[in-house]
Amino acid sequence: MITETNQACDLVIFGTKGDLARRKLLPALYKLEKSQKIHPDTRIIGAGRADWNTEDYINVVKKAIKKFLNEKFDENIWKKLSSRLNFFNIDVSKDIYFLELKKILHEKKNIIIYYCAVPPNTFNAIFSGLGKVNLNYFPSRIIIEKPLGISLETSKKINNQISKYFLESQIFRIDHYLGKESILNLLALRFSNSFFFHSWNNKIIDHIQITVSEEVGIENRWNYFDQMGQTRDMIQNHLLQILTIVSMDQPKNITPEGIRDEKLKILRSLKKIHLNEINIKTARGQYASGVINGRKVPSYVEENGANKNSKTETFVSIKVDIDNHRWCGVPFYLRTGKRLAYKYSEIVVVFKKMSNNLFQEFNKNLPPNKLIIRLEPNESIKIEFLKKVPGLSKEYKLINDRMECNYFNINNTKNFVDAYERLLFESMRGIQSLFVCRDEVEEAWKWIDPIINSWKKTNTLQLYKSGTWGPKNSDEIIMRDGRFWETFN
Ligand code: BG6
Repeated sequence: MITETNQACDLVIFGTKGDLARRKLLPALYKLEKSQKIHPDTRIIGAGRADWNTEDYINVVKKAIKKFLNEKFDENIWKKLSSRLNFFNIDVSKDIYFLELKKILHEKKNIIIYYCAVPPNTFNAIFSGLGKVNLNYFPSRIIIEKPLGISLETSKKINNQISKYFLESQIFRIDHYLGKESILNLLALRFSNSFFFHSWNNKIIDHIQITVSEEVGIENRWNYFDQMGQTRDMIQNHLLQILTIVSMDQPKNITPEGIRDEKLKILRSLKKIHLNEINIKTARGQYASGVINGRKVPSYVEENGANKNSKTETFVSIKVDIDNHRWCGVPFYLRTGKRLAYKYSEIVVVFKKMSNNLFQEFNKNLPPNKLIIRLEPNESIKIEFLKKVPGLSKEYKLINDRMECNYFNINNTKNFVDAYERLLFESMRGIQSLFVCRDEVEEAWKWIDPIINSWKKTNTLQLYKSGTWGPKNSDEIIMRDGRFWETFN
């Protein structure tokens, strides 16, 4: 069954031969086909520079889907999907190709979606190529993805280039974390449960930790990664997006504008980190060699193509203060790194201890209550709380216990939707709630830029062994405040 809101589209994938298209987009389209979420008249036009016809393209796509699909390949679904595929050989620096593309797109009256799965230095040729031949008209949509610059200035440049040809309501900026089921569940958790809703503030919460830990290294992406570093690659987008969803006020409604307005207010309230606080509030690390899952892995500077003197960080932790009424006095500790001991993402909300503990006499140093939201893997919600030790003892002894709810056990794993699948679907429906607006990207850079500039003036990079939880200075950031990173379990 096709939902009414899903329109017939022409999805043009620029960069269809590239890694993003092969690993993520094409398998996601297969899954959407499987769940019958693609309109019967939708066409998929792979655009790239190759001397291929559509048949060649279909073979390439089939191989890619078979390789990167995380489930059994079904020929019947493939038959449907492959009948939508077309290949268009394009040199984006030449207008003539865009005129040709126009002819193909005008064969139908479908809504056109352009997916720029290309490096950012090719973006402008695509925007202007489309603009010059009037293929940018509303309601066509254009999808772009990070890196949207490496600083405020460079991101403004991309935003200015795109906005010359497309309206903000046509631009879909992807942050794939916003397509993850568990991130969406955060909204439900916070805004539909009164016991969470009413305790979500500085009267009840002591601090919040957000960890995104990766096992992978840079996976042959030296040139990309070395100019980014973990801060630009992960904090500027994914972790700040998680932070905004954890901390924003309840939106007026669940519209794109409602959600973006509240997220923006948070980004604008992030307290700037000054040079004299940089070593207190931030820690940077770079991975040395080590062992992960029993396998020896090289250090960052021994990776393929590496510059041995690189000072790029592969790990970062930051203490973030939000300057508003709700969060005044509640620090958010963010950390993320590559080649860490285990891949997982988690939010830990640590509640304040009871100010007047009735059971003090028999219980010194009771632990605080915690809400642990595991975003990946094994999405779950755990609550840690105190209870009485059962029995007849005259001492009123308490122990810490845990209630756990596995998100997919109750909701059925069959409903699991991959982030790109969801975001492609939303772009076909034309709904922007899960996409990032220009102001969000620029506000995030405004906060990140001074941190990166301060690092250039201080020598804070520490090495950490691969397969551990990062450098020592990351622990110091939180221990200085008398707190500890929640350990993985
Ligand atoms: C990407 C980063 O945006 O996110 C990668 O460029 C990172 O460096 C990846 O590994 C992590 O995504 P996920 O979904 O695997 O947590």
